[in-house]
Amino acid sequence: MRLTKNTTLAVYLAAAAITGIVVNPVFAKEADPIGPKLTPRLKQMLAEEMLSVRQAAKQILDGLIVGDHSLVATQAQQIHDSFILQRALTAQDKKDLMKAASPEFLQLDGEFHMTAKKLSEAAQHKDYELQRFYYSRLVDSCQTCHSQFATDKFPAFSGAQPEGHSH
Ligand code: HEC
Repeated sequence: MRLTKNTTLAVYLAAAAITGIVVNPVFAKEADPIGPKLTPRLKQMLAEEMLSVRQAAKQILDGLIVGDHSLVATQAQQIHDSFILQRALTAQDKKDLMKAASPEFLQLDGEFHMTAKKLSEAAQHKDYELQRFYYSRLVDSCQTCHSQFATDKFPAFSGAQPEGHSH
């Protein structure tokens, strides 16, 4: 089974979530780094994706603070589109990914890219209040995912408590 041009992995993952994987809404908070489980190829793709996501997130912040709606829209759309999973994933990659990634990871990833899409739309509508809202959600996604699935890469998150917990 190959991904065709119009079958984005986002769609594929959404279908996977609907058809088989029961996602527990209460995430287990234990760290479970995904990096070591990825094939070198997938790990490389993810790393490249993350670096471009970081670049885009910085540009979005630049756009937000000066009201440059079109910069925000373009960069947010880019985060949405440059989905690692949407790019040149072979059938084998897809299998490897499904083996390595937990439903929680896939859900976070899906939500992350959906938030980027909504941010882009808010910017197209020049709704700066909504842009702030979705930007903050976007940053939430970075932290939530890194603190659960990238503690090997970002050990500072280890043992850290998400907001709302005492101590
Ligand atoms: C769904 C999960 C997820 C989300 C959401 C996410 N990341 Fe990541 N990110 C990862 C994982 C996993 C790694 C570690 C990859 C590895 O093991 O090499 C990572 C690594 C990175 C790295 C280091 C890349 C490198 O190899 O040097 C950067 C920078 C980064 N993320 C930025 C971001 C930013 C900025 C956001 C939000 C705007 C974000 N990420 C959102 C999962 C995520």
